[in-house]
Amino acid sequence: MSKLSDCIINKKISSKPIWFMRQAGRYLPEFRKIRKENKDFIKLCLNPDLVKEITLQPISRFKLDAAIIFSDILIIPYGLKQKVEFKKGFGPTLGEIEFEKIGNFNKQDFINRVSPVYKGIEKTKKKLKKTNLIGFAGAPWTLLVYMINKESPKKSFNIRNFFNDEERLLMLMLKIEEFIYLHLKKQIEAGADTIQIFDSWAGLLPENKIKKFCIDPTQRLVEKLKKLGQPIICFPRGINKKYEEFCKIVKPDCISIDYDIEPSWILEKASGIPIQGGLDPKILLGPIEDLKKNITKYISTFSNYPYIFNLGHGVLPETKPETIDFIVKFIREKND
Ligand code: CP3
Repeated sequence: MSKLSDCIINKKISSKPIWFMRQAGRYLPEFRKIRKENKDFIKLCLNPDLVKEITLQPISRFKLDAAIIFSDILIIPYGLKQKVEFKKGFGPTLGEIEFEKIGNFNKQDFINRVSPVYKGIEKTKKKLKKTNLIGFAGAPWTLLVYMINKESPKKSFNIRNFFNDEERLLMLMLKIEEFIYLHLKKQIEAGADTIQIFDSWAGLLPENKIKKFCIDPTQRLVEKLKKLGQPIICFPRGINKKYEEFCKIVKPDCISIDYDIEPSWILEKASGIPIQGGLDPKILLGPIEDLKKNITKYISTFSNYPYIFNLGHGVLPETKPETIDFIVKFIREKND
């Protein structure tokens, strides 16, 4: 059994699997080369051969325990015929969408639009032996935010007016949920053996709305997905103390933490659920002694607990590939 599955399914504590969110990306020169030749990011995500090649780039460089399929959470809005563009230095921009039509959107049309993702998974899977292949999607709330806001909330987001028609939002999330489920099911059928759900903007929610907009929709999704037999990792970024309630209600197979979460706190609150991640990606840009100290903090806090080493968010584009190599070797020396 692979190390990642052994940790999540068998709750094995003896060796800590390692992978990095955004491990395939702009910090790698070999990714930048392909990206330069492929100006349309969505088209790149829909090219199965390049998806395979990019997914495998970090696997050939570093001794990692999981590959994550090269794709994007915004493939779902694209599949629903919302225009998605990535402008250099600005992040994603989305077009108009008639939300009322999502409910009637033909499932087969959606599958046809995004099927190269599944083809990419099939091709990648053939090249992997003991390395897990992670499929993923955005959580209902995070997708709703992008689809309505039409750009990253980092650029602008008006939270006050956002909840004016709460019932409508909840109804839209239910519709989006169906497509997230379908997209993840197809990824599992294509060969993804672990799933991660990214709720990257859960931290935008006022505390009294976290249950309704993050926890409840994710719980419904996880309950359905668990029946497909593959482990589900959830990453409700930025919900602070609500991580405890999230674990109790959603019961994911593994919980991914952001860097605001104190490792010793979550150790007590995660109800025995395997934990992943935590290290602030900015630490990778600083002095090596700091980096060692911080890695050691996570590894030693979770020494008697099933723990997957990862970051508290994605690898930053400024990161040196040598730093990733260093981290992998540093942890392996301590644990293997
Ligand atoms: O982790 C991996 O290596 C797999 C690939 C992956 C990408 N996006 C590729 C990508 C994954 C897992 C994602 C998920 C994703 N996409 C999330 C959730 C994780 C998170 O970061 O919170 C979100 C919110 C998105 C939406 C998205 N896609 C944004 C905001 C951006 C712009 C980022 C930026 O810094 O400009 C993207 C583009 C994107 N997705 C890139 C990559 C490698 C960069 C594309 C480029 O070269 O310009």
